[in-house]
Amino acid sequence: MVSTTIARDTQIFDLIAKEHHRQESGIELIASENFTSPQVMEAQGSVLTNKYAEGLPGKRYYGGCEVVDQIEQIAIDRLKELFGATWANVQPHSGAQANTAVFLACLQPGDKILGFNLAHGGHLTHGSPVNISGKYFQPFFYGVEQESGLIDWDKVEATALKERPKMIICGASAYSRDWDYIRLRAIADQIGALLLADISHPAGLIVKGLLNDPLEHCHIVTTTTHKTLRGPRGGVIMMRNDFENPFGLKTPKGDIRSMSSLLDSGVFPGTQGGPLEHVIAAKAVAFGEALSDDYTEYAHQVRKNAQAMAKAFVDKGYKIISNGTDNHLMLIDLSSKGLTGKLAENTLIKADITVNKNMVPFDTKSPMVTSGMRVGTPAMTTRGLKEADMERIVDLMDTVLMNAENEAKIDAVKQEVNNWMAEVPLYK
Ligand SMILES: Cc1ncc(COP(=O)(O)O)c(C=O)c1O
Repeated sequence: MVSTTIARDTQIFDLIAKEHHRQESGIELIASENFTSPQVMEAQGSVLTNKYAEGLPGKRYYGGCEVVDQIEQIAIDRLKELFGATWANVQPHSGAQANTAVFLACLQPGDKILGFNLAHGGHLTHGSPVNISGKYFQPFFYGVEQESGLIDWDKVEATALKERPKMIICGASAYSRDWDYIRLRAIADQIGALLLADISHPAGLIVKGLLNDPLEHCHIVTTTTHKTLRGPRGGVIMMRNDFENPFGLKTPKGDIRSMSSLLDSGVFPGTQGGPLEHVIAAKAVAFGEALSDDYTEYAHQVRKNAQAMAKAFVDKGYKIISNGTDNHLMLIDLSSKGLTGKLAENTLIKADITVNKNMVPFDTKSPMVTSGMRVGTPAMTTRGLKEADMERIVDLMDTVLMNAENEAKIDAVKQEVNNWMAEVPLYK
């Protein structure tokens, strides 16, 4: 039997225990992270990891897929219900994989793409020169206005009309405002471009109607499943209206097929091999959780907490890009406080408060230093914290940041953080 013949790997399990302790004892403010439920982890740690299942439910290249077919179909059905999608692929191993599969399905090498500037809050996979999206395609970018921190849709339109990209990509990693998908679709339609929304960050708020609905207006929508959605690490691709392939996109063999079939092929065999059925089962569990009333309450609280946190920072004289937030995160410019993002990240971690340094729009510092930090509320909301707790967190952060050289003060905050988190255990 497998379990009796193999010695326990104490080296790795001791490290997992350490990471568990880290997560339990600290304040987690990384906007892209969350804490999954025990049943999501149970599904991901299951025997499904043993199964090969290349293909799609009912159309596999391997035998013995009767059970995983049912699991994957449930994941697809729940995801469609959650987003009001009419087609979905739940196999992408990550958000980057989902985007790459879309590019492979819809673009030819050298095609122009127009995305949100990484230095203004965009994502690497939307045309950065260090990513396949910027190496294989010709990227153009739109950004935010320096004064307002907001995207100017007229400028997006002007760039789109000038460059005539084949695809416009909307979505971000560090933009705290909502997106005008109606306007973007109108821009895309003027030049016959495909519109892709990557809603990796705010997906969990979108499913509960707290933000504009991209599926109605964007041809294709991708998202990660592990941020506000609170599932396992992974990606998905969805559509609601546009699977007829109005662009006449072709397969490598030259056939014109439906968009859904092109996208399925973009995932497998285009950019991936066998799907991770254990992760797909965990996605299905998470989508089931997201359909519940508890999750509705959670999503509302995520946003209320973000707004309370933004106000608390502003009350203490911190500058928030665009002066507030519509979603779960905010980007804080620390330069007026005489701090860099690197110093803030490295000092806060001494008090067991985790954030990430982040470029702010028009930053004069390098990506390894940065003038800003990004904070978000999904993880601490999962932990049960409310608006008043956000004010307490900002107080603690301010004490650390204003006393970056004072080890005694930082240590006192760390003690308070650890004691507080012990009162609200994550996994009982
Ligand atoms: C907007 C956006 N797209 C894609 C990704 C990539 O997701 P993954 O890390 O799962 O590849 C991220 C991750 O931060 C993201 O913020």
